[in-house]
Amino acid sequence: MKDAVFDDFIDRLRSESDIVSVVSDYVSLKKKGKNYWGCCPFHNEKTPSFSVNPDKGFFYCFGCQSGGNVFNFLMKVENNTFFEAVKLLAKKLNIPLPEKEKSPREQARDLELAKIYQVNELARDFFHACLTKTNYGKAAREYLANRGISDEMIDFFKLGFAPPPWDKLSLTFSERGIALDILLKSGLSAARTSGDGVYDRFRNRIMFPISDVRGRVVGFGGRVLDNSQPKYLNSPETEIFNKRHVLYGFEHAYKHIRDSSQVVIVEGYMDVITLYSQGIKNVVASLGTAFTSEQARNLIKLNAELLFSYDADAAGQNATVRALETVRSLGAAIKVVSVPDGKDPDEFIRKHGSEAFRDLIKSAQPLLDYQLERALKSDDYSTVQGKIAVVGKLAPILAEADNAVEVNAHITRLSQVLAVDESALRSEITKYILQAKKDKNVKSGKTVNIALLYKQPAPAVVQAERQLIRMMCDDLSLIPYVFAKISPQEVQGVLQQEIINFIFNAYNMEKNITQAAINAGVNSLSEKANSEFSHIMLMETQFDDVAKLVDDCIKTMQLAHLTVLYEQHRLMADELERMGDSGFLQELAESQRIKHEISKLHH
Ligand code: UTP
Ligand code: MN
Repeated sequence: MKDAVFDDFIDRLRSESDIVSVVSDYVSLKKKGKNYWGCCPFHNEKTPSFSVNPDKGFFYCFGCQSGGNVFNFLMKVENNTFFEAVKLLAKKLNIPLPEKEKSPREQARDLELAKIYQVNELARDFFHACLTKTNYGKAAREYLANRGISDEMIDFFKLGFAPPPWDKLSLTFSERGIALDILLKSGLSAARTSGDGVYDRFRNRIMFPISDVRGRVVGFGGRVLDNSQPKYLNSPETEIFNKRHVLYGFEHAYKHIRDSSQVVIVEGYMDVITLYSQGIKNVVASLGTAFTSEQARNLIKLNAELLFSYDADAAGQNATVRALETVRSLGAAIKVVSVPDGKDPDEFIRKHGSEAFRDLIKSAQPLLDYQLERALKSDDYSTVQGKIAVVGKLAPILAEADNAVEVNAHITRLSQVLAVDESALRSEITKYILQAKKDKNVKSGKTVNIALLYKQPAPAVVQAERQLIRMMCDDLSLIPYVFAKISPQEVQGVLQQEIINFIFNAYNMEKNITQAAINAGVNSLSEKANSEFSHIMLMETQFDDVAKLVDDCIKTMQLAHLTVLYEQHRLMADELERMGDSGFLQELAESQRIKHEISKLHH
């Protein structure tokens, strides 16, 4: 539905909706000054730090930094997709959706998908009845009881049992009038390789129904009762089962994830059930496969910190490292819960109780600490060889970390632990950063900024950047002036840089840029930049002499940028000189040139 009609419709919704009244359905708001204030629905708070600007149509929470326009609000508060938020807003405003006749082919496909969902649900009930009500299920009931799974949990997770015969389910369902092709497309039945007919994919297994976040059954996992292989058999990929997207337990957990702003990610079905039964309900499993960026996005949408609690064995630890690789570039807050004893969270809790596990959660390690500890453990750093190896592993980790304050603290501590010179450690890190800068295809498009390692942009610089953005948005005719004076590379704040980049791009596309184009475009910003944009729109401002302030802001930014450049070249000069590379003279000259420019700007 991405077309002109739809875009017009979105614009109409935006202009006809009143963000204050939409938000008021969820938050009680009070007017103070130009804006409205209330307690944020996205994090726990007692004093209001959530504000809404009715004129600009944005909300922003000064407590948890979430923000956006009316669509972002509805997406967040209802845990909806953009399209669902559009539908909801249209309904609230009583504006009919633009009708688009579905083609007969689309209608047929909708019908088929509905049938696949339906047969999955029937299968879930069939397996559940087999487990709880029939003789077939006796051994499985005993098995689950032995593992400490209560009847309550069996009912809650709708666990089941697939009976041993080759075609019990296929036959029963065929007799109920379910078409063969639907049985095959759902993955519940498989075609016999010789002869006609079908047989059941799942036989003699304990069944774990897997649902999407709306609770619709999309597939199954089935466990054997003994030690035979494969231990778990899962539904194949189908039209409704995409393993990259699914998280086991998400339909139950998501409310708890949103309330606690944390999610515990485990490997297995059993881990989810045990944690949930112990009241740790913000838990999902990644289905044993590698944790995917799609799964990550579903969780990040809830503003949750991701706590990885994978198995303690080598496979689990390697899976952790891979998962961290996947999510790091998405900008999520990540911690690692190490299970010290026993193989997985389920076994740990059975052995030590759930309180002990809660303690593990509380002492979860931030990502950087976890990575550093792994690197430290990888070699014996009492020897010179070991030190070199460890520093070689630490440097890239620190070079890629983006919290300068943290990194600095680590450098100091690590130089003591390893008994290496602090400046040597710094220059190793610098090498990686410079390398990454040269490497044009920097992964994930994140550009490493050498300045970040040494200091974050000063508050005054960020403030200047924010004011400049705000002034440009309040008066679009300023954009060409600013565009001519400064480039996005000169913007220090990562988010502010993204926003200014976006404004300049919008201006480049269409010189007669309009407010509507800006408002429509902010959805293309990353979530954090989108929030920051709302923040900027909600700043209380009073600009007396705009022309002068614009120039002041630009000057502040240019100075900050030059200072960073200066540092960079000076460091590079040091580094090259240390390595006996005569290139250091050139770097030195460049740093002097920049210094000269800085003093010119000062006057
Ligand atoms: P584990 O082997 O750690 O199993 O696999 P588990 O969850 O601890 O199960 P129990 O305690 O032995 O009963 C972790 C997850 O990996 C997937 C499953 O989702 C499982 O829960 N898996 C594992 C498979 O899909 N197939 C397999 O053969 C094994
Ligand atoms: Mn287990």
